Amino acid sequence: MDKMIINDAIEFVRNTFQDDYSGHDYFHTLRVYKLAMRIAEQENADLLTVQLAALLHDVDDIKLSPETYANKDKATGFLRKYDIPETMIKMICNIIGEVSFRGTDSATPETIEGKCVQDADRLDAMGAIGIARAFAYGGNHNRIIHDPEIQPAVNMNADQYRSHVSTTINHFYEKLFQLKDRMNTDTAARIAEQREDYMKIFVSEFLEEWDGIR
Ligand code: ADP
Ligand code: NI
Repeated sequence: MDKMIINDAIEFVRNTFQDDYSGHDYFHTLRVYKLAMRIAEQENADLLTVQLAALLHDVDDIKLSPETYANKDKATGFLRKYDIPETMIKMICNIIGEVSFRGTDSATPETIEGKCVQDADRLDAMGAIGIARAFAYGGNHNRIIHDPEIQPAVNMNADQYRSHVSTTINHFYEKLFQLKDRMNTDTAARIAEQREDYMKIFVSEFLEEWDGIR
Protein backbone atom coordinates (compact mmCIF):
# COMPACT_ATOMS: atom_id res chain seq x y z
CA MET A 1 0.00 0.00 0.00
CA ASP A 2 2.69 2.53 1.05
CA LYS A 3 4.79 1.59 -1.94
CA MET A 4 1.90 2.17 -4.33
CA ILE A 5 1.15 5.63 -2.87
CA ILE A 6 4.83 6.60 -3.12
CA ASN A 7 5.03 5.44 -6.74
CA ASP A 8 1.86 7.38 -7.57
CA ALA A 9 3.27 10.46 -5.81
CA ILE A 10 6.47 10.21 -7.85
CA GLU A 11 4.36 10.05 -11.03
CA PHE A 12 2.25 13.02 -9.83
CA VAL A 13 5.30 15.25 -9.25
CA ARG A 14 6.88 14.16 -12.52
CA ASN A 15 3.79 15.49 -14.33
CA THR A 16 3.54 18.61 -12.16
CA PHE A 17 7.12 19.79 -12.68
CA GLN A 18 7.85 18.64 -16.23
CA ASP A 19 7.98 22.20 -17.61
CA ASP A 20 9.88 23.92 -14.77
CA TYR A 21 13.16 25.65 -15.57
CA SER A 22 13.44 27.74 -12.40
CA GLY A 23 15.44 25.24 -10.31
CA HIS A 24 12.31 23.52 -8.97
CA ASP A 25 12.22 20.70 -11.47
CA TYR A 26 11.17 17.09 -10.89
CA PHE A 27 14.75 16.03 -10.12
CA HIS A 28 14.93 18.59 -7.29
CA THR A 29 11.88 16.95 -5.73
CA LEU A 30 13.40 13.47 -6.19
CA ARG A 31 16.67 14.55 -4.54
CA VAL A 32 14.78 16.09 -1.61
CA TYR A 33 12.83 12.84 -1.26
CA LYS A 34 16.04 10.75 -1.15
CA LEU A 35 17.89 13.12 1.19
CA ALA A 36 14.88 13.42 3.51
CA MET A 37 14.68 9.62 3.78
CA ARG A 38 18.39 9.41 4.55
CA ILE A 39 18.00 12.00 7.33
CA ALA A 40 14.73 10.46 8.61
CA GLU A 41 16.35 7.04 9.06
CA GLN A 42 19.05 8.55 11.29
CA GLU A 43 16.58 10.72 13.21
CA ASN A 44 13.93 8.00 13.75
CA ALA A 45 11.20 10.03 12.07
CA ASP A 46 8.02 8.50 10.62
CA LEU A 47 9.12 7.44 7.16
CA LEU A 48 5.84 7.59 5.23
CA THR A 49 5.06 11.12 6.48
CA VAL A 50 8.55 12.28 5.50
CA GLN A 51 8.37 10.60 2.09
CA LEU A 52 4.99 12.09 1.16
CA ALA A 53 5.81 15.56 2.53
CA ALA A 54 9.14 15.57 0.66
CA LEU A 55 7.52 14.49 -2.62
CA LEU A 56 4.69 17.05 -2.30
CA HIS A 57 6.71 19.91 -0.75
CA ASP A 58 6.76 22.15 -3.85
CA VAL A 59 3.42 21.34 -5.55
CA ASP A 60 1.61 24.21 -3.74
CA ASP A 61 4.60 26.57 -3.50
CA ILE A 62 3.57 30.24 -3.32
CA LYS A 63 5.80 31.15 -6.27
CA LEU A 64 4.92 28.20 -8.49
CA SER A 65 1.24 27.73 -7.69
CA PRO A 66 -0.06 30.84 -5.87
CA GLU A 67 -3.73 29.91 -6.39
CA THR A 68 -3.42 26.62 -4.47
CA TYR A 69 -0.90 27.81 -1.86
CA ALA A 70 -3.28 28.76 0.96
CA ASN A 71 -5.24 25.50 1.09
CA LYS A 72 -2.59 23.16 -0.31
CA ASP A 73 -5.16 22.01 -2.86
CA LYS A 74 -2.80 19.94 -5.00
CA ALA A 75 -1.29 18.05 -2.05
CA THR A 76 -4.64 17.38 -0.35
CA GLY A 77 -6.27 16.52 -3.69
CA PHE A 78 -3.61 13.86 -4.19
CA LEU A 79 -3.59 12.50 -0.62
CA ARG A 80 -7.39 12.23 -0.26
CA LYS A 81 -7.49 9.67 -3.06
CA TYR A 82 -5.90 7.18 -0.66
CA ASP A 83 -6.78 5.69 2.67
CA ILE A 84 -4.58 8.11 4.61
CA PRO A 85 -5.79 9.37 8.01
CA GLU A 86 -6.86 13.05 8.03
CA THR A 87 -4.40 13.71 10.90
CA MET A 88 -1.53 12.60 8.66
CA ILE A 89 -2.78 14.75 5.76
CA LYS A 90 -2.92 17.75 8.11
CA MET A 91 0.59 17.06 9.36
CA ILE A 92 1.93 16.80 5.79
CA CYS A 93 0.27 20.13 4.88
CA ASN A 94 1.84 21.78 7.95
CA ILE A 95 5.25 20.47 6.94
CA ILE A 96 4.81 21.84 3.40
CA GLY A 97 3.73 25.22 4.84
CA GLU A 98 6.86 25.47 7.00
CA VAL A 99 9.44 24.33 4.47
CA SER A 100 10.42 27.50 2.60
CA PHE A 101 13.30 29.84 3.30
CA ARG A 102 11.90 33.33 4.07
CA GLY A 103 14.90 35.13 5.52
CA THR A 104 14.43 36.00 9.19
CA ASP A 105 10.75 34.96 8.93
CA SER A 106 11.63 31.31 8.12
CA ALA A 107 9.69 28.79 10.20
CA THR A 108 11.25 26.17 12.45
CA PRO A 109 9.25 23.00 11.80
CA GLU A 110 7.24 21.70 14.75
CA THR A 111 7.77 18.01 14.10
CA ILE A 112 10.87 15.88 13.53
CA GLU A 113 9.35 14.86 10.17
CA GLY A 114 9.13 18.56 9.17
CA LYS A 115 12.70 19.12 10.31
CA CYS A 116 13.91 16.29 8.04
CA VAL A 117 12.08 17.69 4.99
CA GLN A 118 13.18 21.30 5.55
CA ASP A 119 16.79 20.18 6.02
CA ALA A 120 16.68 18.10 2.83
CA ASP A 121 15.19 20.98 0.80
CA ARG A 122 17.88 23.33 2.11
CA LEU A 123 20.71 20.86 1.48
CA ASP A 124 19.61 20.75 -2.16
CA ALA A 125 20.21 24.52 -2.34
CA MET A 126 23.85 23.89 -1.27
CA GLY A 127 26.94 22.24 -2.77
CA ALA A 128 27.52 21.65 -6.49
CA ILE A 129 23.80 21.19 -7.12
CA GLY A 130 23.03 24.37 -5.18
CA ILE A 131 25.47 26.37 -7.30
CA ALA A 132 23.86 25.07 -10.50
CA ARG A 133 20.35 25.81 -9.21
CA ALA A 134 21.26 29.33 -8.12
CA PHE A 135 22.51 30.29 -11.58
CA ALA A 136 19.56 28.57 -13.26
CA TYR A 137 17.19 30.55 -11.01
CA GLY A 138 19.11 33.77 -11.63
CA GLY A 139 18.90 33.35 -15.42
CA ASN A 140 15.24 32.41 -15.22
CA HIS A 141 14.52 35.59 -13.20
CA ASN A 142 16.70 37.93 -15.31
CA ARG A 143 19.30 38.44 -12.61
CA ILE A 144 22.89 39.21 -13.47
CA ILE A 145 25.66 36.91 -12.30
CA HIS A 146 27.65 39.48 -10.35
CA ASP A 147 28.09 43.23 -9.92
CA PRO A 148 30.67 44.42 -7.37
CA GLU A 149 28.69 47.67 -6.95
CA ILE A 150 25.63 45.83 -5.58
CA GLN A 151 26.13 44.83 -1.95
CA PRO A 152 24.50 41.72 -0.46
CA ALA A 153 21.70 42.44 2.03
CA VAL A 154 21.58 40.03 4.96
CA ASN A 155 18.95 39.57 7.69
CA MET A 156 16.03 40.33 5.37
CA ASN A 157 12.49 39.50 6.44
CA ALA A 158 10.11 37.57 4.15
CA ASP A 159 8.87 40.59 2.15
CA GLN A 160 12.32 42.10 1.72
CA TYR A 161 13.76 38.71 0.77
CA ARG A 162 11.12 38.12 -1.91
CA SER A 163 11.22 41.61 -3.47
CA HIS A 164 14.95 42.29 -3.18
CA VAL A 165 16.72 42.80 -6.53
CA SER A 166 20.24 41.45 -6.35
CA THR A 167 22.77 39.25 -8.12
CA THR A 168 23.31 35.52 -8.03
CA ILE A 169 26.71 35.84 -6.33
CA ASN A 170 24.98 37.92 -3.63
CA HIS A 171 22.48 35.09 -3.17
CA PHE A 172 25.31 33.04 -1.64
CA TYR A 173 25.65 35.64 1.14
CA GLU A 174 21.93 36.40 1.38
CA LYS A 175 20.86 32.78 1.77
CA LEU A 176 23.20 29.93 0.92
CA PHE A 177 25.99 30.64 3.44
CA GLN A 178 23.37 30.98 6.19
CA LEU A 179 21.93 27.52 5.77
CA LYS A 180 24.63 25.43 7.47
CA ASP A 181 24.05 26.97 10.90
CA ARG A 182 20.29 26.70 10.53
CA MET A 183 20.01 22.94 9.98
CA ASN A 184 17.53 21.29 12.33
CA THR A 185 19.17 17.86 12.55
CA ASP A 186 22.75 16.78 13.27
CA THR A 187 22.66 14.44 10.28
CA ALA A 188 21.93 17.33 7.90
CA ALA A 189 24.38 19.66 9.66
CA ARG A 190 27.21 17.22 8.85
CA ILE A 191 26.27 17.06 5.17
CA ALA A 192 25.83 20.86 5.09
CA GLU A 193 29.38 21.39 6.29
CA GLN A 194 30.88 19.65 3.24
CA ARG A 195 28.51 21.43 0.88
CA GLU A 196 29.29 24.84 2.35
CA ASP A 197 33.05 24.23 2.04
CA TYR A 198 32.54 23.44 -1.65
CA MET A 199 30.50 26.62 -2.25
CA LYS A 200 33.07 28.76 -0.41
CA ILE A 201 35.84 27.45 -2.68
CA PHE A 202 33.66 28.16 -5.72
CA VAL A 203 32.88 31.77 -4.71
CA SER A 204 36.46 32.60 -3.80
CA GLU A 205 37.72 31.15 -7.11
CA PHE A 206 34.97 33.09 -8.93
CA LEU A 207 35.95 36.40 -7.32
CA GLU A 208 39.64 35.84 -8.03
CA GLU A 209 38.91 35.15 -11.69
CA TRP A 210 36.67 38.24 -11.75
CA ASP A 211 39.51 40.40 -10.47
CA GLY A 212 41.96 38.80 -12.90
CA ILE A 213 44.08 37.37 -10.09
CA ARG A 214 43.74 33.81 -11.43
P1 ADP B 1 12.83 27.18 -1.10
O1 ADP B 1 13.11 25.82 -1.69
O2 ADP B 1 13.33 27.34 0.30
O3 ADP B 1 11.41 27.67 -1.31
P2 ADP B 1 13.51 28.96 -3.19
O4 ADP B 1 12.30 28.55 -3.91
O5 ADP B 1 13.65 30.37 -2.76
O6 ADP B 1 13.75 28.10 -1.91
O7 ADP B 1 14.77 28.56 -4.04
C1 ADP B 1 14.81 27.55 -4.99
C2 ADP B 1 16.21 27.49 -5.59
O8 ADP B 1 16.49 28.73 -6.26
C3 ADP B 1 17.30 27.33 -4.53
O9 ADP B 1 18.35 26.57 -5.04
C4 ADP B 1 17.70 28.76 -4.27
O10 ADP B 1 18.99 28.90 -3.75
C5 ADP B 1 17.58 29.38 -5.66
N1 ADP B 1 17.26 30.81 -5.52
C6 ADP B 1 16.24 31.37 -4.84
N2 ADP B 1 16.31 32.72 -4.89
C7 ADP B 1 17.40 33.00 -5.63
C8 ADP B 1 18.03 34.21 -6.06
N3 ADP B 1 17.54 35.39 -5.71
N4 ADP B 1 19.15 34.12 -6.81
C9 ADP B 1 19.66 32.92 -7.16
N5 ADP B 1 19.13 31.75 -6.78
C10 ADP B 1 18.01 31.78 -6.03
NI1 NI C 1 12.11 22.66 -2.82
